[in-house]
Amino acid sequence: MKQILLIIGGGIAAYKCLDLIRRLRERGYRVRVVMTKAAQAFVTPLAVGALTNERVFTDLFDLDDEREIGHIRLSRDADVIVVAPATADLLAKMAGGHADDLATCVLMATDKPVLVAPAMNPRMWLHPATQRNVSQLRADGIAFTGPETGEMAERGEAGPGRLAETPQLLAAIEHALSGPATLAGPLAGRHVLVTSGPTHEPIDPVRYIANRSSGKQGHAIAAASLALGARVTLVSGPVALPDPPGCTVVHVETAAEMLAAVRAGLPADIVFCAAAVADWRVAGSAGQKIKKAKGADAPQLSLVENPDILKTIAAPGPERPALVVGFAAETADVVAHASAKLASKGADWIVANDVSHGSGIGSGGGGVMGGDHNRVHILRAGGVHSWPELSKSQVADRLVAEAANALNAKSKSQ
Ligand SMILES: Cc1cc2nc3c(=O)[nH]c(=O)nc-3n(C[C@H](O)[C@H](O)[C@H](O)COP(=O)(O)O)c2cc1C
Repeated sequence: MKQILLIIGGGIAAYKCLDLIRRLRERGYRVRVVMTKAAQAFVTPLAVGALTNERVFTDLFDLDDEREIGHIRLSRDADVIVVAPATADLLAKMAGGHADDLATCVLMATDKPVLVAPAMNPRMWLHPATQRNVSQLRADGIAFTGPETGEMAERGEAGPGRLAETPQLLAAIEHALSGPATLAGPLAGRHVLVTSGPTHEPIDPVRYIANRSSGKQGHAIAAASLALGARVTLVSGPVALPDPPGCTVVHVETAAEMLAAVRAGLPADIVFCAAAVADWRVAGSAGQKIKKAKGADAPQLSLVENPDILKTIAAPGPERPALVVGFAAETADVVAHASAKLASKGADWIVANDVSHGSGIGSGGGGVMGGDHNRVHILRAGGVHSWPELSKSQVADRLVAEAANALNAKSKSQ
């Protein structure tokens, strides 16, 4: 029977672990739990113990526990260690190598895969200290699931920081239990960062400006990179697609959040900027829903330019990835516009596609955006290669394989 060691941190989302434990037990897993002192302020060890049918471990200096099993064995007996909810505090301690309580001692003593599900207030999540710690932990080989973007428990608070939902947690745990997807492959030991999907730029708390990007192409590139052995970070705008198992997925809404998440995800060997990032956002979006008033004029929206993620990442500097691939979605003069983009952005390659309505065979008549097929042109310094109509996963497989070859050729020549 596979054994999961669940470390519950002291966050408001700790109660969700009760459901997670039930679902894990239904699937036949043995679940042992370590609770931090703060976690016990949110859920009781009694409730957790009743659901796991095991004793719950809370104290590093419990003589009986140490004699019976001990923190080293506790960490080694598990097939996977799951930290949920992972507080900002736990992330900081893990990144710093602290070991001043049972949870952190277990995490320091383990040689098993560790999966972390953060949950906290959006400002805590986006704080540079937390993002630094997350980058460090990713570089240390810790897997992440979530956080999700949405409403917080605190009234009026929204953004990235919600604990991943139970089905996503279960998928991530089962993926971690299945072991590394690919031990070898042309991208083994490499880090690939992919942006995917649209961004949502708020007008007021209920309205936003968006685009038709589905995220299918970006998500397929993340999956293809993973299949070639890479460690993959996927920064995704709001999409209706499941997270590709095995990738570290960071959910964002706006272009500014996407840029922050991409920066936090660096360094990377290859970056694929496949997201359809809004060029503009609404200047000073309203804090309250804009109301219709009788006889009043329609509100005027004033737009300001968003940060240019591709150009920022492709700029020369110590953190510049070896290969930066941008996407150009055009509705006319596809190759000409994409050539201009290649010259102006500093990217190594541009993948250009025609997203005019109805383009794309097999796209269900809805065009490339949202469809399953794509016809792309690859623009590099050496010229343009036009590929035939392919499924988005075929485009992804071929693109990632070519990127892996280019990266490995570049490494050999250095
Ligand atoms: C009501 C309340 C809710 C909290 N929720 C969170 C949370 O969701 N995420 C978080 O990182 N910290 C949260 N905190 C702060 C943590 O409880 C605090 O940093 C604690 O030291 C974490 O301990 P631990 O990491 O050992 O579990 C909350 C505190 C309070 C009082």
